[in-house]
Amino acid sequence: MTSTASPATTLVTVLGLGNLGQALAGAFLAQGHPTTVWNRSAHKADGLAARGASTGATPAAAIEKSELVVVAVLDYDTVRDLLLPAAGSLAGRTVVNLTTGTPGAARDLAAWVTDQGAAYLDGAVYAVPQTIGTSASFVLYSGDEAAYRTHRPALDLIGEGTFVGSAPDLSSVYDTAVLSGMYGMFAGFFQAVALGATEGIPAAAVTAPLVRWLTAAAEALPSFAEEIDRGEYATTTSTLEINRVGLRNILATTQEQGLSTDLLAPLLRLFDDQVASGHASASLSRAVESLRGSR
Ligand SMILES: NC(=O)c1ccc[n+]([C@@H]2O[C@H](COP(=O)([O-])OP(=O)(O)OC[C@H]3O[C@@H](n4cnc5c(N)ncnc54)[C@H](OP(=O)(O)O)[C@@H]3O)[C@@H](O)[C@H]2O)c1
Repeated sequence: MTSTASPATTLVTVLGLGNLGQALAGAFLAQGHPTTVWNRSAHKADGLAARGASTGATPAAAIEKSELVVVAVLDYDTVRDLLLPAAGSLAGRTVVNLTTGTPGAARDLAAWVTDQGAAYLDGAVYAVPQTIGTSASFVLYSGDEAAYRTHRPALDLIGEGTFVGSAPDLSSVYDTAVLSGMYGMFAGFFQAVALGATEGIPAAAVTAPLVRWLTAAAEALPSFAEEIDRGEYATTTSTLEINRVGLRNILATTQEQGLSTDLLAPLLRLFDDQVASGHASASLSRAVESLRGSR
């Protein structure tokens, strides 16, 4: 395997041509990389082949054509199922797994891939297929740093890459953290539009002020993060008690309007716990201590 790589010369294999894999292979092809593809349902390679991609009849055949092997399939079990029969083809190559999974699955896969003599990188992609290769796309990588540096020019074609550490599970931990925040936002969005609907307010009408307010609220997160990292929660902005009263009011309104409080009631329990532990005047950010179990 060559140890140098440039955007024009890296030989890339993409295993998995679902929505993400199609976009990844398309981005490599568009920049002139010799790209080989494989997918369980072979017909999904047709469009890419028409644009110049090579195809491999098996994962092993596809892997053997390239120094950089990018995987994006359903889950880690699938990654293993398709790499196991190709074990003898992996030595000297770099496997970049962009499939979503758990930190434990990333650790296990990294150990197995490394045992086959390949370098392993785990990546968390923050993009939809339509934004792959644009400035809106970014990717967090962890694992073999030397392999990341070698292949960075090619990997940056997916989206701006950031290396977050050499423990292979780190990108998965980051990913779970970031997506937890995203789903929390979606939970609030669903609650908001359901509440509006109880009075016939269209979702779009609720969403306009919601987006404006969420955008402003998101700007508070870095200062909350500083408080949490310092473990210092003095505030002159917004106390736990005032937020507890506010959230109680939201839950009362939600009940009054005949909706379930299932999504937000657990958050009130954190605030209650903090106030019961004597932190009524602390910053709202201190609620995280109840999740950590440290109170
Ligand atoms: N789409 C996104 O916006 C996005 C963004 C970030 C991360 N991701 C992650 O990327 C991964 C792929 O997502 P996707 O959106 O591309 O999913 P998708 O469109 O549903 O594609 C799934 C891929 O997995 C393959 N697959 C499923 N079961 C298989 C099996 N038993 N053996 C071999 N191949 C199998 C499918 O092959 P067939 O075509 O033969 O069914 C297909 O190539 C997921 O882990 C996802 O969380 C996706």
